[in-house]
Amino acid sequence: MGEVQQKNILQVEDLHVQYGQVQAVKNVSFYVEQGEIFGLLGPNGAGKTSTLSAIEGLIRQQSGTVTVAGYDTLKDSRHARAAMGVQLQSTSFQPELNVAEILELYAGIYGLSLNKQQLQALLNEINLSDAENKKFGQLSGGQQQRVSLAITTIHDPKLVLLDEPTSGLDPQSRRQLWSRIESIREKGNAVVLTTHSMEEAEAVCDRISIIDHGRIIATGTPQILIDKHRNDPDVIAVSRRGKITLEDVFIALTGSAIRA
Ligand SMILES: Nc1ncnc2c1ncn2[C@@H]1O[C@H](COP(=O)(O)OP(=O)(O)OP(=O)(O)O)[C@@H](O)[C@H]1O
Ligand SMILES: [Mg+2]
Repeated sequence: MGEVQQKNILQVEDLHVQYGQVQAVKNVSFYVEQGEIFGLLGPNGAGKTSTLSAIEGLIRQQSGTVTVAGYDTLKDSRHARAAMGVQLQSTSFQPELNVAEILELYAGIYGLSLNKQQLQALLNEINLSDAENKKFGQLSGGQQQRVSLAITTIHDPKLVLLDEPTSGLDPQSRRQLWSRIESIREKGNAVVLTTHSMEEAEAVCDRISIIDHGRIIATGTPQILIDKHRNDPDVIAVSRRGKITLEDVFIALTGSAIRA
């Protein structure tokens, strides 16, 4: 069976995720096309990580289907997983291994072998050419994040899933990460990311979904969502300095109460 050629790299249909009595994801459907950066936004506990975990096959959905690069993640999990690169909400690697060892280890897991030149090229790409002998545990948060993204994309996956990839990064590191995310898009691959930064969503995402209490409550380009809601009284009421932003729309749609 050949690989299915299709525009939608990811198709999520009527996804439900449950932990015991907690229904974390309800009736979630969305798609992501080739060459698209898709943002999943929502307050704490909204169901973002649960949605990603079901797509990644780390947890099994109660119902619904997920198709990655044409492969059903339950019926054809091996092919589906091979098409994905996954970065978890907090990723840590063996702190005693150095950067070169970690890159070689994970390349090996994907059946790739890195020669000296390829390793150097990869280190250059993530601006860590001087740090190849540094232990992972000695790197700064931003440097660790760069290593982590390099590993996530080491096998050139069609779909890259990033759970809060820029949390805790300084503005320079964040911009650099955005560029790397955009270069994934330029190769024709697709990215799904979660973020709490509306600025980030506006800057990098082609389309977003806002998820709250496990349900998708809005989907579109950031600009379309702003334009659609700019005259809502709730949006105007929360806007600051007279300019309507994606954050105003987000707060008006999800409410201003802090989540437990
Ligand atoms: N392993 C688990 N067992 C039980 N409940 C869980 C588990 N993981 C998540 N939940 C619950 O499921 C809901 C969704 O959690 P999830 O981690 O998907 O939210 P999130 O949108 O990623 O939040 P955050 O922005 O804080 O990362 C929450 O009510 C959470 O408490
Ligand atoms: Mg989460």
